[in-house]
Amino acid sequence: MQSRINKLPKIELHSHLEGTIKPELAHQLAKRNAISLDNCLFDDNGSYAWSNFASFLSAYDSVSSCLSKGEDYRDITYNYLKDCAGENVIYAETFISPDHAAECGISYGDMIKGIAQGIDDAENDFEIIGRIIVTCVRHLGPAQGLNVVQTMVNNPHPYVVGFGMGGDENAFTLEEFAPIFNVAEKAGYPCTVHAGEICGPESVWDAINYLPVSRIGHGVQSIFDEKLLTAIVNRNIHLEICPGSNLALGIFHDWAEHPLPRLISRGISVSLNSDDPPFFHTTVGQEYHDSAKNFELGDEVLKSISLMAMEASFADTKTKSKLVNKIKNF
Ligand code: ADE
Ligand code: ZN
Repeated sequence: MQSRINKLPKIELHSHLEGTIKPELAHQLAKRNAISLDNCLFDDNGSYAWSNFASFLSAYDSVSSCLSKGEDYRDITYNYLKDCAGENVIYAETFISPDHAAECGISYGDMIKGIAQGIDDAENDFEIIGRIIVTCVRHLGPAQGLNVVQTMVNNPHPYVVGFGMGGDENAFTLEEFAPIFNVAEKAGYPCTVHAGEICGPESVWDAINYLPVSRIGHGVQSIFDEKLLTAIVNRNIHLEICPGSNLALGIFHDWAEHPLPRLISRGISVSLNSDDPPFFHTTVGQEYHDSAKNFELGDEVLKSISLMAMEASFADTKTKSKLVNKIKNF
């Protein structure tokens, strides 16, 4: 069973590239760039130190400050995809944040060039396919979001396959971000948004009513609203589920409380994802193993999760059908 899960082709749809940087790599990059990282960023074991959602977001910002050039983006992308490939992840979409790059003095073009190089190198070395979802940061506001989406649309790249938003769910309203997501959608970019992670079901209603999204990041709070669950099924909305992240952030107290099995039995399309692996002491492979153990999911259910994920991915049709077949043939 364990080795069968190891070998199962896996798909990751929800990770934040800056949040995949492990402490060791953050130290290496900071040294290379002569940047001193905030001491408060690490606990006594050398892991990232944070205690709640707000301090997690600020630790995330601090880690990102180890970056200073496009080449650094190449290295973090390559390292992340290498780890994924080691767990038989065959396709990974990662969120990238031009706002964090800009904070480090890295232009959009240099960031994309670096990430694309990391994707190419990882595909050559490990056969994993990586793609990019450009995200804006909700708490930086709609004006900044517009800036990000316009930069994305004006500088197309074949590896940039979608648009999304992370950050503090309590900041601003999703209605205020509708014009930004509409720019992405009109330009042909499918969209996803973080909702129903920290805030309740109403935040998911806002996401599906105001924004042109086919996926929701997390959306786990939907479990508390029967009508919403029906709407998610009827509108074919995919939920990017990150159980380890939810438990680490205290959104659910334990595995027994986590709604993944109930979402699956309602017929909702879901994927299993790592979100910010070193912050939550997880990986996408770990999420498959932990879910198998704690939710008692068999191989066939895990395989169907990989299939649902690939179907919901923002990959082009040819890549999608090739990888769907690869999973089906497992
Ligand atoms: N940015 C990085 N990780 C995040 C998360 N789990 N929720 C919202 N924004 C994030
Ligand atoms: Zn996330």
